[in-house]
Amino acid sequence: MLMWLRMAPALHLIFLLIIHRVSAADWGVNYSPTQFCALQNSTMTIRCTFTYPTTGYQVMKAFWNIDQVRYDGDFVDLSHNSEYSQRLQYLGDKQQNCTVRLSHVTKKDEHDYYFRITTNVTKGIWIGIPGVSLDIMCVLCSDLQLESPERVTEGDSVRLTCKSSCKLTDTPTFIWYRNSHTLTNIGDKLNISSVSRREAGHYSCGVQGQTYISPAVYLDVTYAPDTPVISISGSAVIMSGDSVTLICSSDSNPLAEISWYKGETSVGSGRIFNISKISSDDSGEYKCRARNDHGEKYSDPVNLDVQYPPRSISVSISGSAVIMSGDSVTLSCSSDSNPPAEINWFKGNKYLNSERIFSISKISSDDSEDIKCRARNAHGEKYSVAVILNAQCEFMMVQ
Ligand SMILES: *[C@@H]1O[C@H](CO)[C@@H](O)[C@H](O)[C@H]1NC(C)=O
Ligand SMILES: *[C@@H]1O[C@H](CO)[C@@H](O)[C@H](O)[C@H]1NC(C)=O
Repeated sequence: MLMWLRMAPALHLIFLLIIHRVSAADWGVNYSPTQFCALQNSTMTIRCTFTYPTTGYQVMKAFWNIDQVRYDGDFVDLSHNSEYSQRLQYLGDKQQNCTVRLSHVTKKDEHDYYFRITTNVTKGIWIGIPGVSLDIMCVLCSDLQLESPERVTEGDSVRLTCKSSCKLTDTPTFIWYRNSHTLTNIGDKLNISSVSRREAGHYSCGVQGQTYISPAVYLDVTYAPDTPVISISGSAVIMSGDSVTLICSSDSNPLAEISWYKGETSVGSGRIFNISKISSDDSGEYKCRARNDHGEKYSDPVNLDVQYPPRSISVSISGSAVIMSGDSVTLSCSSDSNPPAEINWFKGNKYLNSERIFSISKISSDDSEDIKCRARNAHGEKYSVAVILNAQCEFMMVQ
């Protein structure tokens, strides 16, 4: 309870204080709180109640004023002041409620404010002191702060709060920004029930009607790696001797650690896996793994198929070492190449056929010419040594 002062023309303040003590039980005014803060251009509500001895007194006028002490008894109702008439709204009554609202608060409004009543009994005016004062710091509102968890995990529920150290009487309309784009939220709290990676960013908040914006706070949304994908740089067909680069891409936060596997064997780490001179031994299935604190994922395997022209070719002869005229002889041709080679048989320069196995059912002296096979794929060809089936029914190989 704050005290009432009875103000009458030509009476001294000290004298009034004495009078006041006598009647303190019946007269009182209560502002809560006694200090008010408002953001520039916002609305401020001063909550207030008063008491007076209802027997014998009737309130004639109840109003607000900014002059603490005047002896001429002529206090101006603020709502009649042109500076305030559009902005001040008395929400109270003449019984007990003296709540008042002031809108579009500016620095000029930094006064003490007093509630006053006049009664039917005396010409004196009763005022409540001390008054209500506006806090200068809060009017300037230089301390809008955004409170946010620094780091959250995707799916978490997140609450960002816009705060001022001032104790605001009226909640202003807040404006939220993410990466400088305005969000639709208008409360002093921004709730995200299940945060996604797209909601990471620099957040700040402001108040409608004000240019001031809180310092931006970065909301870091972490998440497990997405299934990584391997891309292969270079031509579609990998030739032996080529340089081949595999790149493993996976979205994650924090950045995932990448490992490479050939089959089940670990062969390297890092986003880029390079084989500078690839050989047929490097053929096989490769996959990468992306791992961070939130989990790990493997890519689908990619197959490296290293191609090369036929590089060895040989002919083998089935049957006994000594071939007699009339015997049957089977020659088979084998080669190493990727993709597999097409085999052709030649007798001298004459093309015979394209089987892997070449059979002569009844050997005769006509077969004494040299026979050779050729292996050929898209990348090249190679001839075998010539096989000479001797007319004397023996054979020999010649280089
Ligand atoms: C006083 O009036 C205001 C505005 O109408 C109201 O919000 C408040 O609750 C009232 N206070 C009391 C104590 O009746
Ligand atoms: C004060 O706020 C009102 C909206 O409430 C706005 O239209 C006006 O431009 C603001 N004035 C200043 C000086 O910021």
